[in-house]
Amino acid sequence: MFIKELYLCSNFKYKKMEIIRKITELKKAVDSRRALGSVGFVPTMGALHAGHLSLVNRCRKENPTVVVSVFVNPTQFNDKEDLKNYPRTEEADFALLEKAGCDIVFAPSVEEVYPEEDTRRFDFGQLEQVMEGAHRPGHFNGVAQVVSKLFDFVAPDNAYFGEKDFQQVAIIKKMVVDLGLNVNIVPCPIQRDTDGLALSSRNMLLNEEQRAIAPVIYMTLKEAVNRKEWASVEEVKKWVVEQIDSNEQMKVEYFTIVNADTLQDVESWDVPCAKQGCIAVKVGKIRLIDNIKFA
Ligand code: PAF
Repeated sequence: MFIKELYLCSNFKYKKMEIIRKITELKKAVDSRRALGSVGFVPTMGALHAGHLSLVNRCRKENPTVVVSVFVNPTQFNDKEDLKNYPRTEEADFALLEKAGCDIVFAPSVEEVYPEEDTRRFDFGQLEQVMEGAHRPGHFNGVAQVVSKLFDFVAPDNAYFGEKDFQQVAIIKKMVVDLGLNVNIVPCPIQRDTDGLALSSRNMLLNEEQRAIAPVIYMTLKEAVNRKEWASVEEVKKWVVEQIDSNEQMKVEYFTIVNADTLQDVESWDVPCAKQGCIAVKVGKIRLIDNIKFA
């Protein structure tokens, strides 16, 4: 208690954000703050936007120590071009994190995280055989490889993930159970631009014309929820794809309505479970995902 009070009124709170590149230094820095209370962690791939900052803000409110990782993880990209083009804005990211009150940024090199090839294979069963898992083979194995390593380095009490990556949250929760980790996973709501487009680092890759039409995705999802009142699951799914594909620059990769816990397709509104509509759309060459609750 005394230490926590000291933390609140001492310079510790105002200590400059540390930028750390080495695992040993990270462990030391985090351990030196553990006596203050819980350690909160926000893993990111950088190119930060208001969506990430909402995770950092929540983490800041709930933990005396805030650690954010900035690491573009190569093992989760099944497409080399996608990895090459992924936005990297490290200096700007650090400035935003400092302003948001982050205590420690971990920004390692690929060699630091993967001194040798990570040959671990995770099995998430049916959770990974649908949606992103089906369209991006190996993606969730790579996510699990890096997140399990980061959890090992940081040993956080709470870890914050955005619900835009709905399937990722389910996979991480399962990984935590399967590996018996003592980390509380905190899912956080999707943040949207004023026109409804879900915030994503990939949005900055859209050209002006693509950015202008991209909000159609969320507008269509919202209208799809209304249609639930009179149309079947199959009809709603068909309508969403037709609407979005009617835009020349857009192509739906998948749209599906799933049981929010098992991520398996639901065939009827009568199935007694929480339902989520999940979509991936190519806007030109840029792949965007989004999702919405069908109450
Ligand atoms: O959601 C992301 O940005 C990434 O998948 C994550 C969790 C940081 C792992 O690289």
